Amino acid sequence: MDKLLIRGGVPLVGEAAISGAKNAALPIICASLLSDGPLNLSNVPRLNDVATMRRLIGQMGVAIAADGDGALTLDGRRLDNPVAPYEMVKTMRASILALGPLLARHGEAKVSLPGGCAIGARPVDQHIKGLRAMGAEIRVEGGYVLAQARRLKGARIVTDMVTVTGTENLMMAATLAEGETIIENAAREPEVVDLANCLTAMGARISGAGSDRISIQGVDRLHGADHPVMPDRIETGTYLCAAAATRGEILLTRTSAALLDSVIDKLREAGCVVDCRSDSIVLKAPRRLKPVSVRTAPYPAFPTDMQAQFMAIDSVADGAAVIRETIFENRFMHAVELIRLGANIRIDASNAVVTGVPALDGATVMATDLRASASLVIAGLVARGETLIERIYHLDRGYERIEEKLTRLGADVRRVR
Ligand code: UD1
Repeated sequence: MDKLLIRGGVPLVGEAAISGAKNAALPIICASLLSDGPLNLSNVPRLNDVATMRRLIGQMGVAIAADGDGALTLDGRRLDNPVAPYEMVKTMRASILALGPLLARHGEAKVSLPGGCAIGARPVDQHIKGLRAMGAEIRVEGGYVLAQARRLKGARIVTDMVTVTGTENLMMAATLAEGETIIENAAREPEVVDLANCLTAMGARISGAGSDRISIQGVDRLHGADHPVMPDRIETGTYLCAAAATRGEILLTRTSAALLDSVIDKLREAGCVVDCRSDSIVLKAPRRLKPVSVRTAPYPAFPTDMQAQFMAIDSVADGAAVIRETIFENRFMHAVELIRLGANIRIDASNAVVTGVPALDGATVMATDLRASASLVIAGLVARGETLIERIYHLDRGYERIEEKLTRLGADVRRVR
């Protein structure tokens, strides 16, 4: 298993280009299951999760052509195997995004239940509830969701909580349903909007994406389209935190500050100077960061996917901060690893009190999930001496060419096989 060896203490300085968003690319790839023409995507990030999603829809019958440079053509005309097997779903929960499109287009689907994961139980009851409201017959048997519907019918769906992939699954299913579907309490995440834009280019009739009420008028068929995947706001935020923590100065290109208001506000509160331009961001870090308290919540509030990275920067700030996680019940596993590097963190249920220390010291640590890994990379870049991060396959799921990008910014980072 690959490991990442970091010699810390070097400020990140220079320029990096941000990749396409993982969490937009995954649902958009599933949207090809709805189409009876080729979907031409660009700016698709080269990540392990994207490779898994390609394998998943490929074995369902979608023809795939890639140019190796972020362009992907997906042709769903010959879809013939509406099954998402456990072996694939267990490595990537987002596989559940195949359920809605398969059911809408093929009339049946057999999708493995994702089960829990390191950061919490993460059930999919809202996906199932919404599809049932649209007339699907759904049984859960042998660890699989077995769903059938001759043609889905439009419905008014109120989700019990804000769910990102739940909103995306139901929105995709509704595009081919008969009549109008309204999703109330919808997720407002920019990735939902990017998916809606792609579906609209394919002929879907959607309004309200980006608000908490999305309305979809079902159509009989969707056709091929061209769509560029939006920039990754979490990758952007991760590099901003890495520069902030190492007292660096960086320019991030091919991104959009408008996707990151809450994160940029917090970085400014920490003392960073952040200059937002039309498709780039410049950050200059202070000599010592001020502590910043954050509370995670659905978009546009502070994202849970940036919580671990802020715990890393608060670990070296000048004072104490409180980090409150409200989305996932077990998302502080990076704290114990940061403590191994010398951080002072006290966990009390869903609150973490982080008291900044003047310096961290390198050690061997273990990545437990994707964003936890990112926080360990940031801490390793700050720490004195060598930090060895084990199990970086988590990092490869969501960060494109991370060691290459960090090296260009001056970091001393090496992959150890
Ligand atoms: C997505 C993101 C993930 C991010 C998360 C929250 C993708 C591929 N992943 O995950 O990176 O951390 O949003 O911003 O886009 N819930 C239920 N029942 C359901 C659905 C959700 O109880 O049917 C709960 C979850 O357990 C969680 C909360 O609702 O506590 C929000 O989860 P959700 O927004 O669905 O997360 P994902 O879509 O899985």
